[in-house]
Amino acid sequence: MNQNHSPKARFAGAGRLLLSATLALAALAPAARAQTVAATPPMGWNSWNHFACKVNDAVVRAAADAIASNGMKQAGYVYVNVDDCWQGQRDTSGVIHPNSRFPDMKALGDYVHSKGLKFGIYSSPGPKTCGGYEGSYRHEAQDAKQYASWGVDYLKYDWCSAERVYTPDQMPEVYKKMHDALASTGRPIVFSLCEYGLKSVWHWGPSIGGNSWRTTDDIEDNWNSMSAIGFAQNGLERFAGPGHWNDPDMLEVGNGRMNHEEYVTHMSLWCLLSAPLLAGNDLAKMTPDTLAILTNPEIIALDQDPKGAQAHRIWEEGPYELWSKPLADGSMAVGLFNRGEDAEKITLRLQDVGMMGSVTVRDLWGRKDLGKFSGTFSTDVPRHGVVVVRIHQ
Ligand code: GLA
Repeated sequence: MNQNHSPKARFAGAGRLLLSATLALAALAPAARAQTVAATPPMGWNSWNHFACKVNDAVVRAAADAIASNGMKQAGYVYVNVDDCWQGQRDTSGVIHPNSRFPDMKALGDYVHSKGLKFGIYSSPGPKTCGGYEGSYRHEAQDAKQYASWGVDYLKYDWCSAERVYTPDQMPEVYKKMHDALASTGRPIVFSLCEYGLKSVWHWGPSIGGNSWRTTDDIEDNWNSMSAIGFAQNGLERFAGPGHWNDPDMLEVGNGRMNHEEYVTHMSLWCLLSAPLLAGNDLAKMTPDTLAILTNPEIIALDQDPKGAQAHRIWEEGPYELWSKPLADGSMAVGLFNRGEDAEKITLRLQDVGMMGSVTVRDLWGRKDLGKFSGTFSTDVPRHGVVVVRIHQ
């Protein structure tokens, strides 16, 4: 065997390996490629819901510092995503540069990576983003290369002004164009489609390599918005799975306009729905209660379950709803939701989730085993609240 162990030869060998891995990744079909970066729903933080256009380099570094030190990283949060309003001008060659709030994107990406986290960014297929900043229209390949050179691991691609230059029917091909540009960089980059659920995106999102797609308009930090969006996801469960997820928008947990029970409902519903979990609050200033809601390991385990089966509604009566999610180990997660204005006892018939005979029930927010049940399981559920249980046969 002709082996050469000189450092230079080893480096060349590593380079060849990297090159062939890169080429292999670029050659994978979109659906197969999708699974390599989002086998479970992406978890992280995004600047928009709290900071909107007041985002800057320091805010993003502070978010990375918080995730790396407050237990969120251990809980699974990994992406640190800059949303809209980072863009500056294109230079004479058409290369996009950040604005003065982001002095050095490569250095910011390096900083995020130095914490063992991943770096995300935002653009639009149109000439302008929703915030009126420079979009990627006619610069898709150039932008994808630039993002890769900054170490970007996640792109949120927001339709917005694309409606001025494309017809709605062109949406799939427009998104595919950026997917292919990202694939050509050879860097694994999560591709997050943001198109507010237009054109029944769930039908074509997976085939153009989308790792997630927005199913609704923008969420707001209040009970009506969150619950209207979350409880409307029923029926979309058959389109989600490893590598490609329905996205009911980012989390508002901790932003201040919902109470504790409502944020618990928000987190529970998003985890049952196998939604991307992108915290949208100021991580540097959150309360212990907010952190506890965001990091409950038994609730996050539902979201990150390898089976990737999104929950659906199995029963509703007035403001009371039961949603179930089958898990990889054969157990079943059930959310007993009370959308009403008063506390109420809600009953689950175990046969409705395929459970016969005696079963064990664990309360995932109470973090305790409740014992054995047969036939039915009943529990008091607070106003706008939920009890989430995991049931083993
Ligand atoms: C749209 C998106 C939001 C956010 C803003 C930024 O409204 O849906 O999530 O990215 O644009 O301008």
